[in-house]
Amino acid sequence: MLRIDHISIHGINGIERLDLSLNKGFNFICGKNGIGKTTILNCIASSFNRVSQEVRKNVRSEEGKWYITGEINDNPRFYEYFNVDENTQYTRTGRPRYKNAIKSKEIINFSISRTAYSTPIYTPKSITQSLTESDRLQNWMYDNYFDVAHMSSKRLKNLLIAQECFYLLNPETRFSKVFRRELKTDENEYKGGPKADIYVETPTGEIPFNYLSSGYRACLSILLGIIKQTEVTSALKDVHSFNGVILIDELDLHLHPAWQAKLIEILKWLVPEAQIIATTHSPHIIQVAKQNEIIALAYHNQKKNEIINQRFIDNEYGLQGWTVEEILQDIMGMGDIYSEKCSEILASFDEALSSFDTEKAGHLFKILDSMLHPNNHLRKILKLQMTSLEKVKYD
Ligand SMILES: Nc1ncnc2c1ncn2[C@@H]1O[C@H](COP(=O)(O)OP(=O)(O)OP(=O)(O)O)[C@@H](O)[C@H]1O
Ligand SMILES: [Mg+2]
Repeated sequence: MLRIDHISIHGINGIERLDLSLNKGFNFICGKNGIGKTTILNCIASSFNRVSQEVRKNVRSEEGKWYITGEINDNPRFYEYFNVDENTQYTRTGRPRYKNAIKSKEIINFSISRTAYSTPIYTPKSITQSLTESDRLQNWMYDNYFDVAHMSSKRLKNLLIAQECFYLLNPETRFSKVFRRELKTDENEYKGGPKADIYVETPTGEIPFNYLSSGYRACLSILLGIIKQTEVTSALKDVHSFNGVILIDELDLHLHPAWQAKLIEILKWLVPEAQIIATTHSPHIIQVAKQNEIIALAYHNQKKNEIINQRFIDNEYGLQGWTVEEILQDIMGMGDIYSEKCSEILASFDEALSSFDTEKAGHLFKILDSMLHPNNHLRKILKLQMTSLEKVKYD
């Protein structure tokens, strides 16, 4: 069992100061580009020696350090302090590791480098030298479930869960089979050995996993990746009982909004006991999240890089009543929802109104009228403003 309750970061990467309490279940971290979302995940991962190379002292800070608290293995609490200069050791490959890293296998880290894109089948060796994440997952599925003499009940349960993921993601698809590909001699030299291929039943026939849409593969890479990790790292009954931590950077990467909501729903089914800490740029995820699941980072003091979690959503509905635009502007820190060109014209229109320049305002209104979405409410407002301007002129 592993839970992280709180992390306090001082002088790491772009963050000068941040105190963050985490929810026991889902945590969706959002905020402007560069505010420090990935840095938070990397500090957490480094606390368990998962990834360390991306955590550096802020160039303007005297010290780079963080404190992390939580619960582990049903022990009352852990409290650990890390300092990038004091606690670091380097491995032979130059990777920093922390002497006092917390020992737990119950943390899974999906960094941004996760690749949903697999090499197309039979790509010449010169193009791919090593296996992609998707190849590794397919190999794992074969080695772990289909190339074993005796299947434990835990594995059998996990296999059924893994197969169900295909269907849950898209009810028109079914896991069909997985088998090891017959390789030509030169292809045997692939780093990592021969490859297995998963086949999926679709309404248009049986097709290889690698031919499926990138969104589908990206979702499955996360879901099967979680099953794979929990199986190798913990002695649990099955993936549904995993009660550790899962870090996912850019959860919405490559995913259509419809997939994003679905992935969250399936994650809640797959690992109901887990603590998930994910970063996102998607207003659609924030829109469906519960109030205590949203961590909306904002600068408290931008010059000093002091960052806070804006906790202004204070009701049971979270942001379900907010539009995507409102979330983009107020939560994700996106200044303007219109394109630069449209914003410029809107500003000029305002100027023309203020200076009672009916001709210019009329000209700009025509442009805006053809630019805006057919159902945009703004059009009505602009028309009203135009009419009252004309009224003022002729009164
Ligand atoms: N050693 C450092 N000293 C000062 N600033 C740094 C240092 N390393 C990184 N940064 C800054 O930290 C920021 C990167 O933080 P991070 O990657 O955590 O942001 P993010 O919120 O994940 O952004 P994105 O949304 O683009 O993924 C950048 O603005 C970068 O300039
Ligand atoms: Mg990031």
